Amino acid sequence: MTLLRGLTLSATLGTIFAAFMGSYVRGKGAGLACPDWPLCYGQLVPAFDEYIFLEWFHRTVVFALSLFVAGAAVVTWRRRNPLRYLALVTLGLLFVQAVMGGLTVLLKTHVLIVAIHQAFAFVFFACQTALTILAFQQAPAPRRVTVAGQPPPTSASISGTSA
Ligand code: HEM
Repeated sequence: MTLLRGLTLSATLGTIFAAFMGSYVRGKGAGLACPDWPLCYGQLVPAFDEYIFLEWFHRTVVFALSLFVAGAAVVTWRRRNPLRYLALVTLGLLFVQAVMGGLTVLLKTHVLIVAIHQAFAFVFFACQTALTILAFQQAPAPRRVTVAGQPPPTSASISGTSA
């Protein structure tokens, strides 16, 4: 599996898990177990009870998946991959979704914000899934092989056209 495929697939699976945890938090009524944001009781890792752990874990899963989303954006931009614009939009959507999650807490689970947070989860998931499918459809980039004493091949020599 290529690096990009691994990153996008991990981000997609992470998003499903984050949505599961979000619904679990809501079902348990633990939405305000961490009363502040982005930290929880002013700490990265607070003292846990069941509710605090659930809310903290929802945020932590999102943090973990954001590393994959950011990684996919970096990889596509460094390689000038045509998917780089979609990867950047996906990263932007994740940022917005995280801010909506923060507002969910700061505005004390106001029903409108919670609804927007959930609806936006679908938008982000759709974008992330599209990126993953396209990454899997894309042919892997040709490997650059250098022979001792010879210059590395150019894109023209790889595609068979003369300069
Ligand atoms: C990819 C990012 C995220 C996804 C996909 C996501 C998804 C969800 C989903 C599906 C729910 C359930 C909503 C419902 O049942 O009505 C939820 C709830 C919640 N999310 Fe997120 N979320 C994300 C990021 C965050 C972040 C960064 C925070 C930061 C605080 C956060 C805070 C919350 C809270 C507090 C709830 C519970 C709301 C309530 O109890 O009413 N979420 N999330």
